[in-house]
Amino acid sequence: MTREQYIENNQDKFLNELFDLLRIPSISADSAYALDVQRCAEYTAMRLKEAGADNVTLEQTSGNPIVYGDKIIDPNKPTILVYGHYDVQPSVPDELWNTPPFEPTVKNGNIYARGACDDKGQFYMHLKAFETMMQTDTLHCNVKFMIEGEEEIGSTNLGIYVKDNQEKLAADVVLISDTGMIDNDTPSIDTGLRGLSYVEVEVTGPKIDLHSGTYGGAVGNPINVLCNMISSLHDENRRITIPGFYDTVNVVSYEDREAMSKTPFSLDEFKSELEVDDVMGELGYSTIERTGIRPTLDVNGIWGGYTGEGAKTVLPSKAYAKISMRLVPSQTSKEITQLFQDHFKKIAPKSVKVKVTPHHGGEAAVTPTNSAAYKAASRAMEKTFGKKPVPTRGGGSIPIVALFEEVLGLKTVLLGFGLDSDAIHSPNEKYGLFNFYKGIETIPYFYEYFAEEL
Ligand code: BES
Ligand code: MN
Ligand code: MN
Repeated sequence: MTREQYIENNQDKFLNELFDLLRIPSISADSAYALDVQRCAEYTAMRLKEAGADNVTLEQTSGNPIVYGDKIIDPNKPTILVYGHYDVQPSVPDELWNTPPFEPTVKNGNIYARGACDDKGQFYMHLKAFETMMQTDTLHCNVKFMIEGEEEIGSTNLGIYVKDNQEKLAADVVLISDTGMIDNDTPSIDTGLRGLSYVEVEVTGPKIDLHSGTYGGAVGNPINVLCNMISSLHDENRRITIPGFYDTVNVVSYEDREAMSKTPFSLDEFKSELEVDDVMGELGYSTIERTGIRPTLDVNGIWGGYTGEGAKTVLPSKAYAKISMRLVPSQTSKEITQLFQDHFKKIAPKSVKVKVTPHHGGEAAVTPTNSAAYKAASRAMEKTFGKKPVPTRGGGSIPIVALFEEVLGLKTVLLGFGLDSDAIHSPNEKYGLFNFYKGIETIPYFYEYFAEEL
């Protein structure tokens, strides 16, 4: 039987198994789901074993378990380390979903569910591609699977695990499907990920909430002050004003920017897709540069004071915000967090107190386009899409990728099949059936070509 036949014959089976995976609400950010996270790891391990992997184990950490399994066919053949994550983002606000987030539903050729694209639908393609190669006797490389449960909360325990298990994880390349491509007719391969600094700030004014008539106008209102402080973090050209913020930013060459400008991209479609009349960002850079090669600062959430029904005249004691900064190569999460912290405290007026608490972070990574692995990925996509993929720079972050390079000395290939319109982290997340099956078809070619190229 050919691989294509095996995939065709097992379409329904593959999808039903993915649905069972999607039904488990493995939300890593919320401890109320700890048992589901555990159950999801067990389910993943069971399926990995069933697909034909050896040494399948749940590697215990001080957080969520890592699912490991491997198949070593010949020590002289190249080894691929497949990484993915079985944890998902919270589904809230659930009322914005058209179908329940953990009851996967197919509509118009798409699977709707939290994690459909990020990353359950994508990592599961690897298990099914592996099963297909096993069943058709076409596995050309050794493979090690490492599917973790803390990507959405920063991969801290995986970082420790990788440092402690360098020999066990030895490989020739890391293969990840946790990014996107331009569209189903325009295959592309991400060649970069941004880093991340994430902080929470607390601004305190008077010791308690006060009557806004008796005291308003005479003491610092922490919400007013916080808004001022936040708006001062960008200048009129939308550049970030934190001193030193850009000091280590790698200048991208004219040639590279030229090449980027040729990436297929329609600003009109981008705007209409998001229902915005105009875009906004750093002066002097195009939209794809703003998300691909430039660092940014965004408020993710802001709260304080009275937000209930009706009106309450109150001068709040406290105001809060969660702020993230996307980083580019050479900026480090630790340094940028420190710069933010120093600056934010410095710009605070004496009438308030400021506390800055850092959350998880991660470093940026760029992947080469001239490696054997990139060539194999490019050939694999060309084979199944009929078009050579274009290299692109993605704006998201996968914190462990930089560590794979630093600790294991391994480069990564980001063979992603998602689309920007898949609404990852948003209500009504989806993943195309086309993308799911196309991924299962493409991945084995990567193995085949990588064995040839290396
Ligand atoms: N799969 C995404 C990262 C991603 C999305 C890369 C789109 C490229 C394109 C990943 O699961 C993710 O969401 N990462 C987080 C970082 C983490 C530390 C919370 C992110 O980018 O916000
Ligand atoms: Mn992901
Ligand atoms: Mn994610």
